[in-house]
Amino acid sequence: MPTKIAAGNWKMNGTRAALEEAHAIAQVQSGDAQVVICPPATLLTSMPEGLATGGQYCHPATSGAHTGDLSAEMLADAGASYCITGHSERRTDHKETDADVRAQTEAAWRAGLIAILCIGETLDQREAGETLAVLSEQLRGSLPDGATAETLIVAYEPVWAIGTGKVATPDQVAEVHDALRDQLGAEISLLYGGSVKAGNAAELFALDNVDGALVGGASLKAKDFIPIVEALA
Ligand code: G3P
Repeated sequence: MPTKIAAGNWKMNGTRAALEEAHAIAQVQSGDAQVVICPPATLLTSMPEGLATGGQYCHPATSGAHTGDLSAEMLADAGASYCITGHSERRTDHKETDADVRAQTEAAWRAGLIAILCIGETLDQREAGETLAVLSEQLRGSLPDGATAETLIVAYEPVWAIGTGKVATPDQVAEVHDALRDQLGAEISLLYGGSVKAGNAAELFALDNVDGALVGGASLKAKDFIPIVEALA
């Protein structure tokens, strides 16, 4: 059985005041679900003991002349055990290609991190009926060989559902996750991301091949995130 995972991506949100939220999240009774928070890198070393954490990106290199960047080894050294790769905001804002995402995923593995690899289609691609082909191509280009359930989590995040309040319908999510399951095998955890909230989480988690969520806005406050974890646990 794939591990159930409730992951929070804080994106570029959170100063030390947000540690209070992390401490509250660390207390949640999560049953057999793994809770992960990916805060800004500035907060990683201050996160509460016992709460699994991840980076939001890593540079492919171990170290070197890359001003402003972070290596996977640095994230691991700061306490992270996960790293998001291929988030659509990185693909858009930083022009990251599938090849870049592949190199970052390999770097995450090199440092012993579990990669949370994100894929997702735009609204234009969905409306053109290209969703499954686009996702399959993103996976082909960005997933290194040798992935296992111990090293990889895949997050399906339709770009049009991120931060928009427009959650994909259960039918849309099921179609994609069933296809991903066929492609990736029985053990790898498949998360849905895109406007997940307490009010829609249970319906998504009831789907056969949805093993949890990658949550943005609703992971910033414990009062919003804890009910999502509880819906999964
Ligand atoms: O990585 C999580 C994400 O992109 C979804 O964000 O705010 O729509 O939950 P949000």
